[in-house]
Amino acid sequence: MPMPSDPLAAVTHPDPTPYYRGLAARRPFYRDEALGLWVAAGAAEVEAVLAHPASRVRPLAQPVPPALAGSPAGAMFGGLIRMNDGAWNAPLKGVLRKRMGALELAGMRQRVSALAQDFPFDPTQPGATVNHWMFSLPVLAVADALGLAVTGRPGVAVQAAAQVTAFARAMSPLATSQETAAGSEAATWLQAWMRERLSAGEPDLAPGRPLDALRREALAAGVAQEVIATNAIGLLIQACEATAGLVGNMLVRLGREMAQDRHPDASGALRDVAALVLREDPPVQNTRRFLAADARLCGADLKAGDAVLLVLAAASLDERVPADSARPWTFGAGRHACPGDALAVSVAQAVVAALLVRGADPAALLRAFRYRPSLNTRIPHFL
Ligand code: HEM
Repeated sequence: MPMPSDPLAAVTHPDPTPYYRGLAARRPFYRDEALGLWVAAGAAEVEAVLAHPASRVRPLAQPVPPALAGSPAGAMFGGLIRMNDGAWNAPLKGVLRKRMGALELAGMRQRVSALAQDFPFDPTQPGATVNHWMFSLPVLAVADALGLAVTGRPGVAVQAAAQVTAFARAMSPLATSQETAAGSEAATWLQAWMRERLSAGEPDLAPGRPLDALRREALAAGVAQEVIATNAIGLLIQACEATAGLVGNMLVRLGREMAQDRHPDASGALRDVAALVLREDPPVQNTRRFLAADARLCGADLKAGDAVLLVLAAASLDERVPADSARPWTFGAGRHACPGDALAVSVAQAVVAALLVRGADPAALLRAFRYRPSLNTRIPHFL
């Protein structure tokens, strides 16, 4: 099988591992003229770029992608902490990290299995069914963990998950104009929905729900209500594609294990599968940084405005890192590190477990799938 032509093609390549290993070992930091990007592929290099004060998550002159600018989707994009650097979002980020860290993860299997009762499993269309579950159920599980009332309200729940998926899709640089327009409709729907969920008088709230504590603490830290709502939605959006990818890549891995007559269905085994996937077949394969000032990084002179591709999937396979300090890089690191990592792993395991209980067959799924077109996330699409 030919190697991927470049790190962007590796994201959806059938077996990019040897390419990533080689990149981390032999070209840990280089300039790719054809892509117009610097590329950081070694663990130390990725870490250095993430930590550099001049590294920004968006180009200075373009806080919102041009396709979304001026639309409701653009307004929401521009308010996400994930898409912003600078001082204004530090108080919100602090509250959010604290609240995400305090979420109760015990009992996730039972909660996800209860949510899954509203999801039909069509044995005549296992691929389509699994694709739908992968994108929707993790979003609902995160909503449920935050205390949003989604159980017993399948209509609203499924609609919310569909709107989150539509918005997440519109953020991709590969989005069609139709997907961009759907993203704006989704942003308007989600803002109205979350505003209502956050308002004090909702009758069917879970008592002591994490979202209330988040809102209270963020308001006390001086964060505007609208920004809190945007970033509460942001949690669902961030959960959507990455967790879909984690579930899908776990199913692919399980299918491969089953092909070798291993049947890892006990809970400890699913934990092991998740850990392996995060390291060797992760859903988020790269992210980017844009330099706000000239900087010397990893032995090279970079200019303000230069873009760096951080190949997280390669950094996880960097053999220069001693085994006892090796780690998966798919959750990022530093100022924008994923605050949802533990939740995501717990949710993904529970979704895979629910799928297996309801009859999903990883070995059969493995026989017909491709990867969804993407420049950064590796998400199987089962046929
Ligand atoms: C429960 C599901 C998840 C939630 C609620 C969540 C939430 C978030 C949030 C809020 C951020 C922005 C943090 C900031 O900018 O300060 C973030 C960043 C990030 N998340 Fe997650 N996430 C979830 C799942 C995942 C998964 C499954 C992956 C990959 C395996 C992932 C990978 C990342 C990465 C790489 C970043 C940083 C991107 C960058 O620095 O450029 N997330 N996440």
